[in-house]
Amino acid sequence: MEYSKASRTALGVALRRAVHQLHDSPVVLNDPIAVPILGAMYAERLRVAAEERDEAFSRSLRAFLVARSRYAEDELKEAVAAGVRQYVLLGAGLDTFAHRNPHPQLRVFEVDHPATQQWKRELLETCRIAIPARLSYAPVDFEVQELSAQLQASGFDVHAPAFFAWLGVVPYLTLNAFRATLAFITSLPALSGVTFDYGQPREALPLSEQLVRDALASRVGLTGEPFQLFFTPAEVAHELARFTMLEDLGSTEINARYFTGRADQLAVRGSGGRLVSAWK
Ligand SMILES: C[S@@+](CC[C@H](N)C(=O)[O-])C[C@H]1O[C@@H](n2cnc3c(N)ncnc32)[C@H](O)[C@@H]1O
Repeated sequence: MEYSKASRTALGVALRRAVHQLHDSPVVLNDPIAVPILGAMYAERLRVAAEERDEAFSRSLRAFLVARSRYAEDELKEAVAAGVRQYVLLGAGLDTFAHRNPHPQLRVFEVDHPATQQWKRELLETCRIAIPARLSYAPVDFEVQELSAQLQASGFDVHAPAFFAWLGVVPYLTLNAFRATLAFITSLPALSGVTFDYGQPREALPLSEQLVRDALASRVGLTGEPFQLFFTPAEVAHELARFTMLEDLGSTEINARYFTGRADQLAVRGSGGRLVSAWK
């Protein structure tokens, strides 16, 4: 990411979540703030995104994006039931969980690139969406700043367990930044955990999916946020070896969990994107 620019991919994801609220039924992710957070400023972009909603690529990508947010919130629910009281959204973008937080004792920390976080806060102000009392912001560039110090400066307790959602961020990182963040999470007390999505390397995909990947990579590259980090499931398992429990879902498992019995065709296609969660 270029330092001075807010993430354009974060806007793309938010637009798809908003299309989901307006045009998919039933919703997989119930997010009543997904549309209001875009305000009048992005109304035209939302209209255009909605027009494309039934294209195969658009539908599958939207399914993946809403499933990953829903999965993170489902995993979080389990963490809270086990006693976790801190939730960290790494690369939060325009995620609205903090504004819908149903867990009275849960403190939420939004970590994001400073430029993206500033843009989000301006958008919230413009749209008159109040900042919840149990939300703290921690501006961090994972490539150059230390997550631990910035989080602690915003009130995070490193002596208490925490659950992390790292959605739509890993493909944009260097391996070093990815490993440094994981090392921090594994340094936290038992019950801590993380969920993130990752993409399989191009060469692991069938030819038809390689072309879809190329198109997506070229789109995000044009926004100044090129993909640079991919894993096979075996490589992810290796990176997460210090966690005791691991779940890794491909499209078959994601569809079985979130998209059965629908009258529309909303579902994840292909094998490119996967969801993982890992617990200490
Ligand atoms: C595709 S968006 C996903 C946003 C959000 N998690 C969601 O699902 O809507 C990618 C996010 O990663 C953040 N990001 C990318 N590189 C980063 C870096 N080096 N440091 C901090 N955040 C970064 C961007 O600011 C952006 O919020």
